[in-house]
Amino acid sequence: MRATIFSIKAAQRLDSRGKPTVQVEITTSDGTFPAIVPSGASKGDYEAIELRDKDSKAFGGNGVLEAVRNVEEVIGPAIMSKAFDLAEGMKPIDDFMVKLDGTSDKSKLGANSILAVSMACARACAAAQSVPLYEFIAREIGSKGPGYTMPVPFFNVLNGGVHSGNGMAFQEFMIAPIAAQSVTEGIQWAAEVYQELKSLIVEKFGKSAIGIGDEGGFCPPISHPSEALDLLVESFRRSGHDSHFQVGIDPASSEFFKDDKYDLGFKTQETDMRTKSGMAELYNDLIERYPIVLLEDPFAQDDWDAWVSFNETCKIELVGDDLLATNIIRIDKAAEKKACNALLLKINQIGTISEALTAAKRAYELGWSVFVSHRSGESTDSFIADLTVGIGSGHLKSGAPCRGERVVKYNRLMDIEDILKAQNIECRYPGEQFRWAGKARDSRN
Ligand code: PGA
Ligand code: ZN
Repeated sequence: MRATIFSIKAAQRLDSRGKPTVQVEITTSDGTFPAIVPSGASKGDYEAIELRDKDSKAFGGNGVLEAVRNVEEVIGPAIMSKAFDLAEGMKPIDDFMVKLDGTSDKSKLGANSILAVSMACARACAAAQSVPLYEFIAREIGSKGPGYTMPVPFFNVLNGGVHSGNGMAFQEFMIAPIAAQSVTEGIQWAAEVYQELKSLIVEKFGKSAIGIGDEGGFCPPISHPSEALDLLVESFRRSGHDSHFQVGIDPASSEFFKDDKYDLGFKTQETDMRTKSGMAELYNDLIERYPIVLLEDPFAQDDWDAWVSFNETCKIELVGDDLLATNIIRIDKAAEKKACNALLLKINQIGTISEALTAAKRAYELGWSVFVSHRSGESTDSFIADLTVGIGSGHLKSGAPCRGERVVKYNRLMDIEDILKAQNIECRYPGEQFRWAGKARDSRN
């Protein structure tokens, strides 16, 4: 029997920052499938455009009622009129929406409306094929297994940049439980370190310093990255997890790039301007002194020469976020220039699940790794947990082990691990090999 869509409904709901976002519900003969989209704060210039109403009387101009209307009055009816067979997968639907929008950045109908439909469609298609979402995504990307590679979760436990109110210019300090034997164990260890970090912050800065930032990490009154890294190393030690963790940093440096220089004092009263080579020296010094294995957006989205020069000698994972914007044109440009060696995969940067899968595939073909990511303004949707397992990328970031919109992804990963184990389906935890998980997946095909 053909599985087709009965209805596509949309509504304005709230994200984790209390800002409006788009929710979609698709009903088919298999049931009703919801999705809610996230939104970034340190957005790149090359991301697909999310529509905001600009009506200053509602939500300070951040309403998404136009995007909601676009789903209900344009996208929904157009998709329904095509009567797509959901059992055949989601690519025809995503391709159709891209054409219907007709712009290169989805600015006509909005990446927020299109993505919400795309995510809900993925769930509806999975149900039409009678498989869980992670398995459907594995099929869509062409993975033949056997089994699944679970991700090493990177927990952003210290928040700076535009995600918090302290003086720290760097946006994210992430801890990765590489010595764990499973996702479930890794999440436990990270939660233990997180509590220890909290105690350490109380001890050093007092109780008023344990407030958290947009992604659930602490934001104590520190400003130099080595202060943050010292706190992490000390919390590993105190929680009995010395040598169990490695560290990732996302400075999100496009946010403090001005006049060809980087201002590490952009959140304080003082300016602290660094040249590109000064930044490279700072990173190399930190990499030498701390167990850092991943660096994301160390340079701004258009500072190509700084990226290229750093990548020449870089031995760790060098991830392009704002640089690539999950966009295949930017990925190809970066590959040609040899600017980085990994893709940050954010579904709302590109606006459909199929295009995100194409971006991941291209990254694998280039021999890069793929790091799946949430946004700082998240929803309670756990979609990216299934996405990460489905594409076998070996690592993801979803913030601290704290706040519902962050832990819903980690909890879903533990659910998936339990399901796979109960069914005796192989599920590998890549540990230190997280970077090469995608390549291993590819070579098995
Ligand atoms: P954003 O931050 O969601 O605010 O863009 C996440 C990131 O920079 O990786
Ligand atoms: Zn980033």
